[in-house]
Amino acid sequence: MKLYKSPSHLPEEARTLVVGVLNARLADGLDLHSQIKVAHWNIKGPHFSSLHPLFETFAVSLANFNDAIAERAVTLGGKAFGSARHVAQTSRLPEYPQETTRDLEHVRLLAERIDVYLVGLRESRSAAEKSADTDTVDLFTGVITEFEKNAWFLRASLDA
Ligand SMILES: [Fe+2]
Repeated sequence: MKLYKSPSHLPEEARTLVVGVLNARLADGLDLHSQIKVAHWNIKGPHFSSLHPLFETFAVSLANFNDAIAERAVTLGGKAFGSARHVAQTSRLPEYPQETTRDLEHVRLLAERIDVYLVGLRESRSAAEKSADTDTVDLFTGVITEFEKNAWFLRASLDA
């Protein structure tokens, strides 16, 4: 992949590697965002009134992180790939069972998918650390902190 000129002082090899992991996490994040919205739209049951808006807060914060991750890839001289078709081919998340309506089933499904997202984020943070890209490390740490908290919210709802 050819890189564009970048304000970054990192060597081209490191930037190429980090752009790759940023795009991998962008695909997961865009996939997770669409899955959270599906849960937000279709949820039914006694916990609707608390979980419908909670899922929206997850989606809003994830949309901001996805934007920051994409823009970091371009800042480093790369491109950001985020079309629905590209995401469908590259995300490591499992597909969402869209027929689901039951409130706590959505909680369980989202908690599982956030766990998968977090595994990728931690791997990518390590890759950025090895490449001495402190700023990308910080970016990933922000996402990890927020989504570990969100996973806790969900697991607390399940009392598990
Ligand atoms: Fe909404």
